[in-house]
Amino acid sequence: MAGIFNVLIAMLAGLGAVTLCCIIYSMLRFLTLHLIIPSHPLQSYKRSGPEPTYALVTGSSAGIGLGVAQALVKEGFAIILLGHLAEELAEAKSGLQALRPGAVVRILVMNARTATPEEIKDAVQSIADLQLSILVNNVGGNPVRLPAFRPMATHSSEDIDAVINHNARFMARLTALTLPLLSRNSRPEDRSLILNMSSAAWVGIPWIIMYGATKAFNLGFSCGLARELKASPDTSHIDCLAIVPGEVRSQGNCEGVSDSEPRWDQFGQCIVDKADNAISRNQTHLHPWMMHDFQQKILAALPEGISTAALNDALGKKREAFNSAWERSQKME
Ligand SMILES: NC(=O)c1ccc[n+]([C@@H]2O[C@H](COP(=O)([O-])OP(=O)(O)OC[C@H]3O[C@@H](n4cnc5c(N)ncnc54)[C@H](OP(=O)(O)O)[C@@H]3O)[C@@H](O)[C@H]2O)c1
Ligand SMILES: *[C@@H]1O[C@H](CO)[C@@H](O)[C@H](O)[C@H]1NC(C)=O
Ligand SMILES: *[C@@H]1O[C@H](CO)[C@@H](O)[C@H](O)[C@H]1NC(C)=O
Repeated sequence: MAGIFNVLIAMLAGLGAVTLCCIIYSMLRFLTLHLIIPSHPLQSYKRSGPEPTYALVTGSSAGIGLGVAQALVKEGFAIILLGHLAEELAEAKSGLQALRPGAVVRILVMNARTATPEEIKDAVQSIADLQLSILVNNVGGNPVRLPAFRPMATHSSEDIDAVINHNARFMARLTALTLPLLSRNSRPEDRSLILNMSSAAWVGIPWIIMYGATKAFNLGFSCGLARELKASPDTSHIDCLAIVPGEVRSQGNCEGVSDSEPRWDQFGQCIVDKADNAISRNQTHLHPWMMHDFQQKILAALPEGISTAALNDALGKKREAFNSAWERSQKME
């Protein structure tokens, strides 16, 4: 009897030790990802030679896209800004050149929501001679008729299509056309990088259902492509990472966001700082902000009843903040 008891104790102790090791290992992975930052990130995506290496960032006249562009300019990349308002883009360009005098910045004016396949093809054609090594599929949002937070039943077909076009269709088309440019490498060590902007909303959230659903599309596509690219020697030098932000204060997300959340420029820098580390670990997706990463882990571990209640409560507050700001602006007009 005592023998069996002793064996049982030993087994439980062993199990405890293994569990403890797993927990310590996960904690170390978490901390090293977020706390060890290279002093010069993304240098392995620079091409050699006198020609500049370009990064194409979509939706980059403001918000996280501009934040990423700023961080890339600091690292010596040339930038192609893509947005739909020429004036805002010109302003962003002078801002980048003030940040690093002599920075090479080009502009593509294009409306992600309405661009035809021909227009996208022409735009990619116009940059085909450049040395492009980074594509950041950042443009995204919730372009429905206002107020933006509404039950699904109140969404028109136009609302539904606008979100799909803006968040999913445009980046799928642009990525397909840009891949041949990214796969060009004159030396075997030349690498390219695609960053796809998903969102913590991919889990499915109320009142902006289409937004969350298209962000799940971004995540699924990005992870699929990351695997496909590794399958062929012709494309295995292209790395692909989905970025999953939580709440970020930006032009598009300015109501009901706590001051403790990162600002667009801090967040853009954070993406650039942590991408190398995530890629060297073969991650397909990255929650770049440490607190967001922590929140995601907690959310995933909670029972569904509790996470639904927490999400509905948080989104209810956001809906209130966004929609009442909209009502105030209506009254002012
Ligand atoms: N902010 C957050 O909390 C958050 C959270 C999770 C995920 N994200 C994702 O991160 C990405 C950036 O978000 P953000 O909050 O930084 O956005 P934002 O502040 O709204 O910035 C939007 C950018 O996209 C451009 N843009 C808007 N409509 C466009 C169109 N039709 N065609 C082309 N460009 C257009 C704007 O430039 P122009 O006006 O010059 O065109 C601007 O540069 C999005 O994919 C978003 O879904 C954000
Ligand atoms: C990025 O996402 C788009 C669609 O959201 C997809 O078409 C594309 O393949 C993705 N890119 C990568 C490299 O995963
Ligand atoms: C990542 O994957 C490559 C093969 O695809 C492998 O050689 C490498 O060891 C992996 N790195 C890690 C940290 O798992």
